[in-house]
Amino acid sequence: MKPIETVGVVGAGAMGRGIAQIAAQAGLSVRLFDTNVDAVQAARASLQQTWDKLVQKGKMEPAAADAALRRVIACAALEDLADCQLVVEAIVERLDVKREVFGKLEAVVADDCILASNTSSLSITAIATGCRLPGRVAGFHFFNPVPLMKVVEVIDGLRGDPAAGDALMDLARRMGHTPVRARDMPGFIVNHAGRGLNTEGLRIAQESVAPFDQVDAIMREQAGFRMGPFELMDLTALDVSHPVMESIYRQFFDEARFRPSPLTTVRLAGGLVGRKAGEGFYRYVDGQKQAPA
Ligand code: NAI
Repeated sequence: MKPIETVGVVGAGAMGRGIAQIAAQAGLSVRLFDTNVDAVQAARASLQQTWDKLVQKGKMEPAAADAALRRVIACAALEDLADCQLVVEAIVERLDVKREVFGKLEAVVADDCILASNTSSLSITAIATGCRLPGRVAGFHFFNPVPLMKVVEVIDGLRGDPAAGDALMDLARRMGHTPVRARDMPGFIVNHAGRGLNTEGLRIAQESVAPFDQVDAIMREQAGFRMGPFELMDLTALDVSHPVMESIYRQFFDEARFRPSPLTTVRLAGGLVGRKAGEGFYRYVDGQKQAPA
């Protein structure tokens, strides 16, 4: 298999733009597509800002920043991804929509193009099922924010060709990330292990054993985590993480240890989804965490 030089990214939201950033910084040509044209333009503008800041801080040469930006091509149609050797999908976390996009992609790209999903919780095998060539489908699961979170999970679906996963392992390293290989099970590694932290933290707060800010402080200061579970949920935002919690719970046939909490359901219903909304478990002013809400 030839080394991957041209990557398509479908979905120009938080994850798509992060994946586009590290790919362009690694010298790859990036084709960025989103059904929302404004999202593609916003993503490119935000990448320019990010690289400008890196230049100002002396962490990137101006010429390298210019070259990286030139490598990110905003695409108005999925057909513009025809020459990609890999397409990474980072759209809404819904199996039906992802399957539809993979089906459309298969009609556009060459047969040896790898199709990867950044899904947090959906089965790679299930996403691949509707594909003509399911062997080329794999999981490529980055974490937010992509440039800073250096781990990426590479997931082989049951009908996946190991060569596709191998190519993603190589590419992740070229992009300065640390790939870990996982089987296609709900939550893979990180979101499976992470469920314990979140669900037990939520249970402690729900049972009034201790307030959530105390749980965060203990996990940070005593257990050595960079953030407590509530700080992390606020960063990820509940509109993103709650569907993941529900999906993992359902896929394990309602196993109690994965059960989401009414504490998150009610916040989601009220739009208190986290930092980006200015309020979640905590309040935020100019992005800075305030006292618990
Ligand atoms: P986001 O909501 O920021 O961005 C999603 C983008 O996809 C939007 O710009 C939307 O217009 C676009 N989109 C929706 N349907 C589309 C379609 N059919 N074709 C093309 N574009 C479409 O979402 P985010 O946070 O970037 O998440 C994307 C994926 O990455 C999801 O599967 C999510 O579970 C996963 N993920 C998210 C993480 C996070 O912390 N935000 C972490 C790891 C994975």
